[in-house]
Amino acid sequence: MVSGMRTFVCCLIQISFLINLAEFAKFSECQSDEKCIRLDKCSHIVDVIRQDIKMTSEQKYLMTHKQCDLDYRSKSYLQRIYVCCLEPGNVLPDVNTCGQRPPSFRIFGGKESKINDFPWMAMLIYNKGQEDQLSLCAGSLINTRYVVTAAHCLVNWPMIESGTVVTKVRLGEWNTSSNPDCLSQLNGRTHCSDPYLELDVEQRIVHKGYLIDSKSYQNDIALIRMRQAVRYTTWIKPICVKTSHGNNLWNSFSEETKFKIAGWGSTNKRQSSSILMTSSIVQRKPHLCWKRYKRHWPESQLCAGGIDGNDTCVGDSGSPLMATIDVGSGQYVYLAGITSYGPTPCGFPGWPGVFTRTAAFIDWIQLNLRP
Ligand SMILES: *[C@@H]1O[C@H](CO)[C@@H](O)[C@H](O)[C@H]1NC(C)=O
Ligand SMILES: *[C@@H]1O[C@H](CO)[C@@H](O)[C@H](O)[C@H]1NC(C)=O
Repeated sequence: MVSGMRTFVCCLIQISFLINLAEFAKFSECQSDEKCIRLDKCSHIVDVIRQDIKMTSEQKYLMTHKQCDLDYRSKSYLQRIYVCCLEPGNVLPDVNTCGQRPPSFRIFGGKESKINDFPWMAMLIYNKGQEDQLSLCAGSLINTRYVVTAAHCLVNWPMIESGTVVTKVRLGEWNTSSNPDCLSQLNGRTHCSDPYLELDVEQRIVHKGYLIDSKSYQNDIALIRMRQAVRYTTWIKPICVKTSHGNNLWNSFSEETKFKIAGWGSTNKRQSSSILMTSSIVQRKPHLCWKRYKRHWPESQLCAGGIDGNDTCVGDSGSPLMATIDVGSGQYVYLAGITSYGPTPCGFPGWPGVFTRTAAFIDWIQLNLRP
C-alpha cells in the first residue's frame, strides 16, 4: 500500500510538469523531431514519470510544455494526455536526421576539428572510486537514446581491477577546457555553442562474443543506453548506421576509401588534447593488418591507416571511423567502423589501425535497442 501511494504522489508531481489541467488550455505545437502521441506510448516520458527519484533539470526541461492534445473520453491520465514525443530508442534514424554536418570534410593529417564538425561525438566519462572523473574512450550517438562504442572501453582488466566504470556520456563537447565552447569570428563577434550535455548511463550492453582476454579483439562493440532521451540540436546529432537500402554498407567502401577519425586522444600515451582532433585515413588491405599483428583476422574487422604514422593516433578507442556516402543529391556521414586497436606507442609508420566493421553488427545493434 505504502509504495503504491508513493508512486502515485511522485507521478502527480511529474505529470504536473507535463500537462495543462485546464480543458481549454493552449497545447504545444510539436517540433520537427517529435510526434504527438498518447502518453502511455511515449516510453522516454513514461520512464521519467514512473521513476522513484527526483527529476533532473534536463528531465524537467524535456517534460515541460509537452502536452499537445487531450482525449476527454479516456479515464486514465496515461491515455488521456497526448504528448510531443521524441523518436524512440529502438529506431535508427535515416538521412533526414542522421549524418549531417557542415560541408568541410576534406582536410588531411591530425588537425583540430571545427567547432561543430562531428556532432555525434560522445565523450565517455568514467568514475574511479568516489569522485575521480576521467575520460578513457569515446563513442558515437546513433539515436535519441544510444551511443555505440568499443567493448574494450567497458570491460578490460585495468578497469575491473581499479573499479573504474563508465557512468556518464557527454554530448556536444568540443573544447574540454571551456563550456560553452566559443569562437571569435573575423568581425569580432563571438559565436558560442550550447553548453555540453551530460547524461547518466542506464545500461551497458557488451557484445557476448567479445572475450576480455582475446588478443584479436573480435566483436569489439558495445552499446550504452542513456537514462533519458536527447534532443537533436545544432551541436548534437546522430551519425548514420544503416543505409536505407539494407545492409549494403559492406560494399560501400573499397580499397583506398578515405575515412575520417576524430578524438581527444584520451587513451594514447601522447598528451591528450582539449580540442577534438581529426585526421583522414585510407582503408588498407586486410593482410597488412594481419602481417603486422599476427592475429586472427575476421571479416568483421577493418584495416585502415598507417601510411604516414600519425594518422592512426587521432581516434580514441571506441570513437567513430567515418565515411561520407552520397545519398540522392546529398552527402551523409556513416559509421563505417569503431576504433579498436592500433600500434603501441601510436603513430608507428607502416602500422595500420584495426577497426570493428559496423556493417557486420547492424543486426546486433538493432536487436539490442529498446524504446
Ligand atoms: C579552449 O578553451 C580555452 C579555455 O577557455 C581557451 O583558452 C582556448 O583558446 C580554447 N581553444 C580554442 C581552439 O578555442
Ligand atoms: C608526425 O607528427 C610529428 C610530431 O607532431 C611531426 O613532427 C611529423 O612531421 C609528423 N609526420 C608526418 C608524416 O606528418
